[in-house]
Amino acid sequence: MEQYVIKGGNPLVGDVEIGGAKNAALPILAASIMTNESVYIDNLPDVRDINVLLTAMSNIGVTVKREDRHKVMLNAGGINSLIVEEETLKKIRASYYLVGALLGKYKYAEVVLPGGCDIGSRAIDQHIKGFRSLGATVTIEHGMIKASAEHLTGAHIYMDVVSVGATINVMMAATMAEGVTIIENSAKEPHVVDLANFLNSMGANIKGAGTDVIRIKGVSKLHGTNYTIIPDQIEAGTYMFAAAVTKGDITVKNIIPKHLESITAKLLEIGCEVEETDDCIRVVASRQLQHTHVKTLPYPGFPTDMQPQITVALALAKGTSIVTESIFENRFKYVDELTRMGANIKVEGNTAIIDGVGRYTGASISAPDLRAGAALVIAALAADGFTTVDDIKYIERGYEDFHVKLHNLGAQIELVQTEKDIQKFKMKVG
Ligand code: UD1
Repeated sequence: MEQYVIKGGNPLVGDVEIGGAKNAALPILAASIMTNESVYIDNLPDVRDINVLLTAMSNIGVTVKREDRHKVMLNAGGINSLIVEEETLKKIRASYYLVGALLGKYKYAEVVLPGGCDIGSRAIDQHIKGFRSLGATVTIEHGMIKASAEHLTGAHIYMDVVSVGATINVMMAATMAEGVTIIENSAKEPHVVDLANFLNSMGANIKGAGTDVIRIKGVSKLHGTNYTIIPDQIEAGTYMFAAAVTKGDITVKNIIPKHLESITAKLLEIGCEVEETDDCIRVVASRQLQHTHVKTLPYPGFPTDMQPQITVALALAKGTSIVTESIFENRFKYVDELTRMGANIKVEGNTAIIDGVGRYTGASISAPDLRAGAALVIAALAADGFTTVDDIKYIERGYEDFHVKLHNLGAQIELVQTEKDIQKFKMKVG
């Protein structure tokens, strides 16, 4: 079984190139089946969730051609099935984006129900409500979502909760509906905007993405395009917090600083220095970290996908901090692992009360999900002694070359298979 073995203690120093945003790439790949012409997508991250989706798309007849590691050509002219049963798709949340895309273009979709990280119950009622408002019949049977319609017709849809997934899914289906759709209380995340820009580059007519009202005038046909995916806000934020936690000095490159404002603000509050240029941010942590309060919120609030990373930093900070999780109800599972490394955190409902401790100590831990897994690795990089991290398959879902990028920043980390490999690493780093 693959694990990371880590010896903590080195401040991480240097530059790190940030890849394309996984959560933008997933809907963009799905939406690319909405034309029969070829679509070229650049800055695609080479991570497991993306590769699982590409395999599922290829299995229904989409031609998928890798131009290079981060560029792909897709052509959906040869789609031969509107039923996506791929078992592996259950593991990724974004499988349901194929519903919006297939329903929009073919007025029919049958897709295996999504899984993704186990961070709370993840309802899809708003997706279903949106599809039904457009005139589709939607049922869930035998673990599949089935959506079909004679015609899709534009509608005025009010989302009861701010949902990234539902906003994206309904936006895709509405792109090829007859007439105008208005989505109110829509999500404003950068990846929602990126998908709208992508669809517009294919001939869609979407306005207002990035605000809480999106207006979509349906079109009957979309065409091919060349598109570059935005940088990954969460990958960048993770390395920025790695600088804070390890008392390091990291410059994240190829990013959009505007997307990172809530993260930058918290790093400044806890005592880091932050320098911004056009497409880079440098984070220097030379002082003792200070406590703060943070609540996760939809964009432009502090992202729930950065909650474990800031908790790992605050557990080392001076004083008492409070972290409130307002998006998912079960996102503190990793706290038990962090406690085993010496953290002093009490979780009450959706709130973590954190009394800063001076240091972590290495332990054998498991990654409970994607973002918490990455956060625990960062804790291990600051810990005294050795840590082994199991279940790194979760981390590989969303971070390209995680251990390699960390190693290049000076981390003592290795991907290992066996106990013998661990012993060899320990001998090597002493
Ligand atoms: C996406 C991201 C995930 C991120 C989350 C919030 C992807 C692939 N995943 O997940 O990394 O943590 O946004 O930024 O992009 N909800 C409902 N009904 C629905 C849909 C959602 O009640 O129909 C609730 C959810 O249970 C949750 C909240 O709305 O409490 C937000 O979920 P949502 O924004 O939909 O998250 P995802 O799109 O699943």
